[in-house]
Amino acid sequence: MPQTASLPGTTDRRLAALLTLLSENATIVISGARIARETGMSRSTVWRWVEELRKLGVQVKGQRSTGYFLEKVPDVLTPDLLRKRLKGNLFGKRVFHFFKTDSTNRVAMELGYAGEPEGTVVMAEAQTAGRGRSGRNWHSEKGAGLYFTVLLRPKLSPAQAPLLTMLAGVSAHAAIAAQTGLVTELKWPNDLMLNGKKLGGILTEMHAEPNLVRFVIVGIGINVNQEKFPAELSAIATSIRKESGRMSYRLELMARLLTQFENDYNRFLREGPGFVVQRFESVTSFAKGRRVRVDTGTESYAGTTAGLSPEGLLLVARDSGPLVTVIAGDVTEVR
Ligand code: BTN
Repeated sequence: MPQTASLPGTTDRRLAALLTLLSENATIVISGARIARETGMSRSTVWRWVEELRKLGVQVKGQRSTGYFLEKVPDVLTPDLLRKRLKGNLFGKRVFHFFKTDSTNRVAMELGYAGEPEGTVVMAEAQTAGRGRSGRNWHSEKGAGLYFTVLLRPKLSPAQAPLLTMLAGVSAHAAIAAQTGLVTELKWPNDLMLNGKKLGGILTEMHAEPNLVRFVIVGIGINVNQEKFPAELSAIATSIRKESGRMSYRLELMARLLTQFENDYNRFLREGPGFVVQRFESVTSFAKGRRVRVDTGTESYAGTTAGLSPEGLLLVARDSGPLVTVIAGDVTEVR
């Protein structure tokens, strides 16, 4: 049965149920008695949970004697609402929600080892140690962005797993365009860019045997409603709000992205790597003809991007020498 799953630190089920009930009846006063009945709490504890919600920044109006209501639907990622939006879908079955955790990738990795099924989603309002690529930190301001990770158990070889990063990028590109009209640029392999600044990133991690993937986790971070970034990021990061001048409903964007990703994932499994490479190439202009510097950790060289290999690796025509396949490393555009 679909459920909001529980782990130490996940949002209490009663709190999630209370938030969903208030959100679904925004602007309507709901009596303490009805809340108690529909959430399974005792009447005397309803006010305590309302106080909890207020502490978390949700503006609940009203009082014990009259009942409670929300003036407007808060942009909180309630797991119940996400499951309702994704009913019957792969990602609508098991959802772990945190108001705060260190990293949804860390949690998902543990869930993978613990045998959680394919499709499990871990999401957070804030991360204290969000992981980025190359050991970097992912800035995860509370309630402003989307920070979530999905668990997959595909029958793939470890070498094919990085294609899932590219696939998630393609799905995110489509979902952002459908919801906001903004057309992001995909920078191989995992960056979502807008006007030369980073809007989102994907970090895929896996547990594998030499020839077989046991599980893969795909962590997605998108800057949605941030108004500003810390000084060290302000020149290189942007958000949907900064680019469009409008707030976006994060739950809707997440639901669109996961619906799109499920479709794309199934096509990848049916049709093979060619599907991912072709989709990625169709929405990126970065993979061909861009001047880049590649830093592999052991060497650094300049060149021009020359398309993707059939396995999804970036080809670069080195200034001094042959066409090379970039297997790992940082690729930076040089203007
Ligand atoms: C990158 O460096 O571009 C990848 C960033 C990935 C960030 C997301 S946020 C949700 C998930 N949990 C993490 O700790 N990281 C990923």
